[in-house]
Amino acid sequence: MILERENLINVNDIKRQMSQLTDDRRDGEEISKFVSYYQLCRAAVGEFGTKLENLDSDYQVRHNHNPIHHIEVRMKDVGSLIGKLERKGLEPTIDSVPGNIFDVGGLRVITNYLDDVYTVEKNLLAQTDVKLIKRKDYIKNPKPSGYRSLHLVVSVPVFQSDSVQVTPVEIQIRTVGMDMWGSLEHKLRYKTDVDEDKVAKYSAELQGYSDEINHIETNMQKIFHDL
Ligand code: GTP
Ligand code: MG
Repeated sequence: MILERENLINVNDIKRQMSQLTDDRRDGEEISKFVSYYQLCRAAVGEFGTKLENLDSDYQVRHNHNPIHHIEVRMKDVGSLIGKLERKGLEPTIDSVPGNIFDVGGLRVITNYLDDVYTVEKNLLAQTDVKLIKRKDYIKNPKPSGYRSLHLVVSVPVFQSDSVQVTPVEIQIRTVGMDMWGSLEHKLRYKTDVDEDKVAKYSAELQGYSDEINHIETNMQKIFHDL
């Protein structure tokens, strides 16, 4: 099941978002380059969505188990893309994006069990048209916050009307428990109106819950194996 976390971008969204920017990025040629690049990344997200769904149903047929609980997809909004380029000290134009920003298109794969994270990774990377660009395993090495997830940047060839473009997307793979934790912690981290004392108190509390959830998911995995 693929869920769209926000409405996936279309040409009008990009035009609207770019027209809200105050400088010369409203230039027609720049807008059409943005639209083309977003379209390419959107197509790459679609390719990976299909790959992952096929992988899940193949696994169900062969092993009588669905590794994937659900999949979420999103496109980065233009404002955050520009912000990220600026934070990285890059020229805030579309030409800076390829080779520097890999998460214009993003998928989040929520798995049922811990082992499923690595099953999905292994099966996806075994596909000959998929190339691994970056890998960060925050499950083996959780972030100080307690954040756990496997982050991959992978590319796939996208067939367009006049060319084939190898296009990257970011895929975050995590269990149901890690996802539940990540969603709540994200609220605490990125909501600007929560007061400091609360943030400090809940951060510490959530850090502990991350270990507890991991403990529970590890034990439930063992029961699942044993049955
Ligand atoms: P970017 O260039 O921004 O991608 O930097 P990076 O590659 O170092 O990013 P990182 O691997 O930290 O992953 C960034 C994404 O992971 C964020 O957009 C969040 O979705 C998620 N993330 C990373 N750390 C945390 C965390 O501590 N808490 C939560 N809730 N999410 C996190
Ligand atoms: Mg990232």
